[in-house]
Amino acid sequence: MNAPTETALQQDTATLYERLGSRPGIEAIVEDIWNNHVSNPLVNKRYANSDPATVKRLVTEMCCAGFGGPETYTGRDMLTTHKGMNINDTEFVAVCDDVLKALDKHNVGKRERDEILCILYSLKGDVVYQ
Ligand code: HEM
Repeated sequence: MNAPTETALQQDTATLYERLGSRPGIEAIVEDIWNNHVSNPLVNKRYANSDPATVKRLVTEMCCAGFGGPETYTGRDMLTTHKGMNINDTEFVAVCDDVLKALDKHNVGKRERDEILCILYSLKGDVVYQ
């Protein structure tokens, strides 16, 4: 078997943040996640009173910080944010589908998709039926 190349090793040890293209890459993905949400009839009414720039900035910060970047997340925790919304399972899956659709558009690989899906589902209990 051939020894792994230096590039392959670097890719292997890179953080999820780096593998997504650092802040500019994550910002571009979050832009598409937002666009998917506002055109998704299963969830778009939920975002009708939100300020798009603020939500996009906070989601970007959260992803950057959570995926291994140097950013600090300045938003609220997931339980506090979604408390009182009584979000159901269908809406949760719709939001995850919007994320996956955006990842596809940006040609994000299977490894990264799987990692992100795990992170989303780890937060489900704080988001759904609160
Ligand atoms: C794991 C899945 C989710 C994550 C990681 C997530 C993350 C976030 C973040 C970071 C914010 C901004 C925080 C802040 O305002 O301080 C936010 C806001 C919001 N989220 Fe989620 N969210 C998730 C699922 C959902 C679902 C399923 C819905 C319902 C369809 C939803 C509806 C909203 C709404 C309406 C806001 C805006 C609140 C406002 O304008 O004050 N989220 N979310």
